[in-house]
Amino acid sequence: MDDRPIGVFDSGLGGLTAVAEIRKILPFENIIYFGDTSRVPYGGRSPEILLKYARQDVGFLRSFDIKAVVVACGTVSTTALPQLKAESDLPILGVVEPACRRAVKMTKSKKVGLIATAASVRSGQYERTIAAIDPTVEVIGAACPLFVPLVENGRYRVGDAVVEQIAEEYLAPLREAGVDTLIMGCTHYPLLTEVVGKIMGEGVELINAGAEAAWELKRTLTATDALANEREGAYKLYASDITGDFAALAGQFLNDTVPAVEGVDIDQY
Ligand code: DGL
Repeated sequence: MDDRPIGVFDSGLGGLTAVAEIRKILPFENIIYFGDTSRVPYGGRSPEILLKYARQDVGFLRSFDIKAVVVACGTVSTTALPQLKAESDLPILGVVEPACRRAVKMTKSKKVGLIATAASVRSGQYERTIAAIDPTVEVIGAACPLFVPLVENGRYRVGDAVVEQIAEEYLAPLREAGVDTLIMGCTHYPLLTEVVGKIMGEGVELINAGAEAAWELKRTLTATDALANEREGAYKLYASDITGDFAALAGQFLNDTVPAVEGVDIDQY
């Protein structure tokens, strides 16, 4: 048993979708979440800058006595995970591998779609991971750079003409390719599940990368006897820039009334 908290980070609010899943699956765990809101979005940045930001994000989380880190960011998971793991004595979990394993399990047509940030798609990491599991599965990727700013601004609902039009455009090549499984490879995208599901149609299985990472976390903590004792877990939110609507938006991501959010000067880490 280990009651120390789990550290979770993302560029902004998106990783809170993973926190919501962790809280469902592991209700006894304490969580410290950091959203790098002063530098969101990460999705168009270079691997060098992403590694620098990710090291600072992990550095902040490690200023607490945590037992594991969940990189609740597809972009960092695709570009900086091996370095972060090599530099850490703690378990560091990303979102790519668990999502790929699930996608390979689900697909019957052997055509898997991937929507993610430009940096994630450019990295080729989802393709490499899937090829290592099953080389006969084809991955059709589409970068969706406008999704993160839209979601961060609360524009993700069915009926929002702007979101629906952009989603139609991004998803058209995946529909034409006949994918039967779609990895939502960015932790902001679960908020768009209804919009994406409506466009892709009922026959397409949507994979929530953050949810798959939450299951992976449970397996890891169970295997290392590091689960928390059975009492209600709590979470605490930190952000590098707290704008007026942060708490309200965070509440939408978590489906909860969020506790006070604390500011962090991330340049100190
Ligand atoms: N939510 C993150 C991801 O999973 C980052 C998105 C962004 O900041 O561009 O990729």
